[in-house]
Amino acid sequence: MLDIAFAKAALPKTGVAVLPLVEGAALAGQGAALDKLLSGGLTAALKAAEFTGKKGQSVTLYGPAGLKRVLVLGLGKIEELTVRKAEEFGGTAQTMLTKEATASILADALSEKLAAHMALGARLRGYRFDKYRTTQKDDEKTKLAGLKFLVAEPAKASAFYTPLAAVAEGVELTRNLVTEPANVLYPEEFADRTEALKKLGVKVEIFNKKDLEKLGFGSLLSVGLGTARESRMVVMQWLGVSGFKDDKKGKKSKDPVAPIAFIGKGVTFDTGGISIKPAAGMEDMKWDMAGAGAVTGLMAALAGRKAKVDAVGLIGLVENMPSGTATRPGDVVTSYSGQTIEILNTDAEGRLVLADVLYYAQERFSPKYMVDMATLTGAIIMSLGQEYAGLFSNDDELAEKLIAAGKTTDEKLWRMPLVPMGESYDKSINSPIADVQNISSGKGGGSITAAQFLQRFVNGKPWAHLDIAGMAWTGKDGPTTPKGATAYGVRLLNQWVADNFEG
Ligand code: BES
Ligand code: MN
Ligand code: ZN
Repeated sequence: MLDIAFAKAALPKTGVAVLPLVEGAALAGQGAALDKLLSGGLTAALKAAEFTGKKGQSVTLYGPAGLKRVLVLGLGKIEELTVRKAEEFGGTAQTMLTKEATASILADALSEKLAAHMALGARLRGYRFDKYRTTQKDDEKTKLAGLKFLVAEPAKASAFYTPLAAVAEGVELTRNLVTEPANVLYPEEFADRTEALKKLGVKVEIFNKKDLEKLGFGSLLSVGLGTARESRMVVMQWLGVSGFKDDKKGKKSKDPVAPIAFIGKGVTFDTGGISIKPAAGMEDMKWDMAGAGAVTGLMAALAGRKAKVDAVGLIGLVENMPSGTATRPGDVVTSYSGQTIEILNTDAEGRLVLADVLYYAQERFSPKYMVDMATLTGAIIMSLGQEYAGLFSNDDELAEKLIAAGKTTDEKLWRMPLVPMGESYDKSINSPIADVQNISSGKGGGSITAAQFLQRFVNGKPWAHLDIAGMAWTGKDGPTTPKGATAYGVRLLNQWVADNFEG
């Protein structure tokens, strides 16, 4: 993890210094000091290189004095310099410094807030998962261990950065969970790892197979019938407003009143079951728990920054395998809601998991809002590619607020159709022998009919479903996301909470 520090602005005497410059801006602060030290040499170099400060432009100077080099980087137009742009800048700077042990960022001409977001971007872009590498050569490794941001008021920058660091911790936790192979991270192991949130003040309850049988989770449990790995559900509670009442006299805290509920699909591996998937690309299905991973990282982020909100996170953890004990196409199961489900395709398993967890979340908590995240359908990748997650909601205002939060964090959402029960898309999941069937009898619109299926288990609560199948994993590096697990959703929902519930 990249070590971030903020210090009082003073020209560094050694190492590498980065100077961010806004388009058309005159040199100020340490930039001006450096220019003076060079008797105008910086101004001359920028002029010679036709550096204007456009985003992406860079100029390198070697020296002066003890300094190894100065890297001048364009920040783009001042009026377009949002916190997100600052994060992207930090991410880009990180990639240009990987061969250095440390570097200083001369950020004293910028606000402390922007400096803090630069630091966040650098940290997020610097994420690595090297746990299973044993033969990496030294020159292949990232050396960069720390970044020092030189600012006008370090204490102020630190105050901005502290909650951002908690969010980064959440993102890193999610990326770690999602990247783990399925032989290591199976439902029981995932559940055990959520216990780490206890030290942040999160209440963690783990439901094992017996508990789930007792509750009547026939839908969720049907997915795990073919595997040797037991299913789990985890309920995490962060009560930033009402707090926990557990005391030494044994008085237990009651469940919070109308919290916000986050629900995640946690299929630790999805073979498709008896409706088995083709071999090519099946390894991707280790990240079919990215929804649950994002809910876990989000709860860590909210607790880590002590968010003023009551939030609960519920994740359904299963492995979908074919075997002699697996669910067959055509089997009928009884869900926790009491509704019966005809399972026509065992590869449409995520919705079977969410059906029970969504219903349980409502029954137990009566949440003010419910948001679920799931790598639910391949069809959403056909519809939206890897640019937008699909958003389905029964509440227009909720949908708009989520889209707005996604714009801030650059985790984009595109609203998709969802119709009331009994209408068009919904009718296509009526079963001839049970209350509902788990795939549509019509053609196409697979992400929509999946969302319609979930809606059968929603009792009129304001609810949103994010189909993140196209967003959870990326094959190419992004400005603050190295290729691999993205942790899509963590920053988005953290932002939505901050914008709407913390006053
Ligand atoms: N986990 C998959 C969806 C998925 C596909 C996620 C590709 C990420 C990348 C889900 O369980 C699934 O298999 N969905 C089926 C549904 C179909 C059987 C109705 C699909 O999308 O093909
Ligand atoms: Mn599947
Ligand atoms: Zn799946």
